[in-house]
Amino acid sequence: MNVLSLFNGCGMLRPALDKANIQVNNYYSSEVDKFANQIANKNYPDTVQLGDINDWHEWKLPQIDLLTAGFPCQDLSVAGNRKGLDGERSSLLFQALAIRDKLKPKYFLFENVANMGKQNRAEISKLIGVEPVKLNSKYWGVQNRERLFWTNIANVKQIEQGQAINDKQKLFQDILLDGVTDKAKAKCLLASYYKTQASPNRLKRYIKGYFATYNFVFTELNQIQLQMIFDKYGRDWSDDLLNNTAIRKLYPVECERLMNLPDNYTEGVSNTQRYKMLGNGWDVDVVAEILKGLNQ
Ligand SMILES: C[S@@+](CC[C@H](N)C(=O)[O-])C[C@H]1O[C@@H](n2cnc3c(N)ncnc32)[C@H](O)[C@@H]1O
Repeated sequence: MNVLSLFNGCGMLRPALDKANIQVNNYYSSEVDKFANQIANKNYPDTVQLGDINDWHEWKLPQIDLLTAGFPCQDLSVAGNRKGLDGERSSLLFQALAIRDKLKPKYFLFENVANMGKQNRAEISKLIGVEPVKLNSKYWGVQNRERLFWTNIANVKQIEQGQAINDKQKLFQDILLDGVTDKAKAKCLLASYYKTQASPNRLKRYIKGYFATYNFVFTELNQIQLQMIFDKYGRDWSDDLLNNTAIRKLYPVECERLMNLPDNYTEGVSNTQRYKMLGNGWDVDVVAEILKGLNQ
């Protein structure tokens, strides 16, 4: 199969293709981030880098069987600036659609955040020509991550309807290298996670429920002690336990596990770059589940 991966990031589509047992003959990537490209090629040296999507008129490609596009979401997501499809980055969707029109791949898969406004979602669905399905990574792994997928791969509606059955009951705690978490499933990993600071003065505020969307890990505690902190909080209790703990950020390897990637997939660039590309990425198991439809 010939694959064209637009907005390839560090190429999390590729391990998903492997997991779904799809044989790849040629893999073309359009991506402008040099660190993401470095990691994509470290893991899959045969990745052909095409560069900026805006230069697509110059690309020389064979017949493409699968075209994918996790188009930039900063202008669409509630966390972003909400310029919608007029935003410079999200309007790159129009380039992806023009490429699809020209190449006419047998299969396409577009992806974006689930928390965009209704109007944007309707507009994008009209442009792509199919309604999206909403899949949550928590049913395949340990992260709460809701994403919309627009595709003509046939099995996807059944996956959406059956996703709760897929819940493996894997817990966030299971993927930690050390420390304990107060959450059953991790919050959605964002590309901005690299900016998160687990400073000591955030500890009490985190327990009080501030930073509820953050992924922090308690160190030097066991689960029972952690429970005591949460149970006793707000009552008359000593600070002993709190004095013997701290919160930390997730390690990059733990973030890889959140995305169902092999350990150390993104090793080779700075932690900042690792967090960024991981937060931007596709959940490998969710995408593999969709791609299994190509074998049917
Ligand atoms: C949401 S991320 C997609 C990540 C990818 N799906 C993955 O699994 O890693 C969007 C990507 O689009 C890339 N991008 C932004 N402008 C681009 C352009 N003009 N041409 C190609 N890629 C671009 C960004 O660098 C970013 O990696």
